[in-house]
Amino acid sequence: MKTLHKKNPTTLSSWKALQEHFAELKSKTLLELFDEDLKRLDYLTITWEDFYVDVSKNHLTKKTFDLLLDVAKESDLEQAIAAYFSGIPINETEGRAVLHTALRTVENTAVWVDEENVLPDIEKVKARIQSFSEKVISGNWKGYSGKPITDIVNIGIGGSDLGPSMVTEGLSYYKNHLRTHFISNVEGDHVQEVMKTVNRETTLFVIVSKTFTTQETLSNAEIVRKWFLEDAPESAIAQHFVAVSTNLEKTQSFGIEAENVFPMKDWVGGRFSLWSAVGLSICLSIGSAHFDDLLAGAGNMDMHFRQTSFDQNIPVVLALISIWYNNFWEAESEAVIPYSQYLRSLPAYLQQASMESNGKSVSRDAKKIAYQTGNIIWGASGTNAQHAFFQLMHQGTKMIPADFIGFKKSLYGEATHQQKLMANFIAQTESLMRGKTKAQVIAELQEKKMSPSQIEKLAPYKVFEGNRPSTSILINKLTPYTLGALIAMYEHKIFVQGVIWNIFSFDQWGVELGKELAKVILEDFEKGVSSSHTHDASTTGLINQFS
Ligand code: F6P
Repeated sequence: MKTLHKKNPTTLSSWKALQEHFAELKSKTLLELFDEDLKRLDYLTITWEDFYVDVSKNHLTKKTFDLLLDVAKESDLEQAIAAYFSGIPINETEGRAVLHTALRTVENTAVWVDEENVLPDIEKVKARIQSFSEKVISGNWKGYSGKPITDIVNIGIGGSDLGPSMVTEGLSYYKNHLRTHFISNVEGDHVQEVMKTVNRETTLFVIVSKTFTTQETLSNAEIVRKWFLEDAPESAIAQHFVAVSTNLEKTQSFGIEAENVFPMKDWVGGRFSLWSAVGLSICLSIGSAHFDDLLAGAGNMDMHFRQTSFDQNIPVVLALISIWYNNFWEAESEAVIPYSQYLRSLPAYLQQASMESNGKSVSRDAKKIAYQTGNIIWGASGTNAQHAFFQLMHQGTKMIPADFIGFKKSLYGEATHQQKLMANFIAQTESLMRGKTKAQVIAELQEKKMSPSQIEKLAPYKVFEGNRPSTSILINKLTPYTLGALIAMYEHKIFVQGVIWNIFSFDQWGVELGKELAKVILEDFEKGVSSSHTHDASTTGLINQFS
């Protein structure tokens, strides 16, 4: 197979069978499913390395599970996975391969793009990243006044920011003395807030842009360079500015020496790029050995994804369950709740990874799609989230399937806190499912000696319907390796969803229109008037607020 199939999933016989099955299953509660099948955990939990994934608190029976697996088979998922890893251009609308997996491969097998084995080049760039990082970490790389570097400022946006910042924050336990900062937004205030915390003489600026044309990143890089040159000589740029990009011409015209540019290839998508030179800030922050572990965790999750039968394949199972809720139960969103403050930015990272990939409404055969695709992803760290939006998850009107992610061990070995944290994790998944009946509420209130009339009044508000689904992803400990595996797990979930939904997951044309119009409006601002003939009345009114 040269490309991915172009089958409308709703025409598959397994999809139709699922529709019929849904009608039978939808009125059964999760608790009934547990009562009816005592062996449920046997097929609805997966153990892989340090991961224990329990999907049993989802609206699935053995029959549902088997039908979902049939959808995967009928969607030629096996061939699609082979195509994904092979280097053929499955990103058809941009004419590119999708090979972020090659950056972390744990195999020694050549990966070919345009008749070139890309592995030697990947190794070469990685060696440069690592030796540069070690020089900076050890203090051998000096700033223009001879002092070692103390601060790293990553300037990038989207995939050139979210991956590095989420991982750097996620692995802050493993970090060295270098302080890392991130400038992403095209907002002078954001830039100023970062600049006031750093010293020119000891700061390294890492400008990350795959295209090196992104307005936000270039504007921020320009303003930072201007600020830098207010006190430092032009010749100092080489010691303080490095870039990560595919666009060597543009980095050169920005004034960055070729030897200070860490290249990446166009077959690395922005939102999957932290494994490439885009991960430079990560490597600077945690050092080469930990960076290797991060890649190894992802590389081994890749092997799990490629080699494990679908019924025990974590990304495949998670993707199928997500499709089940999205397309049959009409769930509008999915929550991701990491019970780790280190991973508080994981939901934001996954928003780009998932929503930029699968937020599409045209099929791979260029037809307008009449079924639901990309999920809305959101979330925050537990237990904070419990005190914010869990009310809606427990008693609101919407079904919100949620991934609970937690670790058996804390990093500093604080056992009591960890037990409290994880007791909350487990209690939330249990209470979402179990709920509380009116009879239970009444019994509790009677116990508190409340009057019958008070009970009558209050009871309806204290009832929890329950029957709300969740998936538990329990990992031994947060390490560079397990974080790498966790991210790769979600990347592959996203891929499987895209394959089945018959969409192109690796382009992002939907981000372009706003960028184009922003240029027009910027010109309007500069002219001081709105060229109202090109805008509607509302937009013209808004532009005029700035004249
Ligand atoms: O606007 C979306 C996007 O193209 C993302 O896909 C990408 O991660 C981000 O912009 C940044 O792009 P670049 O790395 O080319 O500056």
